Amino acid sequence: MTIRPLSILPAPVLRKLAAPVKTVDDDIRQLMDDMLETMRHEQGLGLAAPQIGVSLRVIVMDCSDDNDPEPMIWKMANPEIMAASDDTASMEEGCLSIPGYRGEVTRPAEVEVKFLDEHGTEQQMRADGLLAACVQHEIDHLNGKLFIDYLSRIKRDMIIRKMTKDARIDRDD
Ligand code: NI
Repeated sequence: MTIRPLSILPAPVLRKLAAPVKTVDDDIRQLMDDMLETMRHEQGLGLAAPQIGVSLRVIVMDCSDDNDPEPMIWKMANPEIMAASDDTASMEEGCLSIPGYRGEVTRPAEVEVKFLDEHGTEQQMRADGLLAACVQHEIDHLNGKLFIDYLSRIKRDMIIRKMTKDARIDRDD
C-alpha cells in the first residue's frame, strides 16, 4: 500500500465527472488499498479517487466510531444512490481536499446505495447517521461536487478565493 499525494482545491480533477470502473481488477483493488492507506494517514473518514488525482468512480470509507466493536471499512466501485429519505439531517463536514474549512451540510438522513465490492460483486448498503453523510459526500466527489457547494454562496466563494490564493503562494515558493 502506498500513501498518495492529495489533490487540493482548486485542482481541476476535483470538479470533473469521474468515469465508471469497467472491471474491478487488481489495479482497482490496489487503488482502493492505496486510498485507504492515504485516508488513514490523513485521518479522514472517507476518500474518493479524484482526491488522489484518479478520475474513476471509486470510494473508500471507515466511519466506525467508539461504539463499533469492529472497524466498518467500505471499498466501493461505481456507488449509486438508489433511494434517499425525505427526512434530512445536518452535520458539520470537512474534506481532506479543502483543509482547514468546515461547514454545516444538510442531506437526506438515510440512503440506500448499490455498489461493486472489491471482488466486483454487486452489494447494497443502507446507511443512516454519520455513514449516510459520509457516503453521500464521497459520491458527490465522483460528480465533481464538494461540500462547500451546499454552503451559502458568500461562504463558498470566500473559501474558493482563499484556497486559490494559497495554491498560488505554494507555487511561487
Ligand atoms: Ni471530501
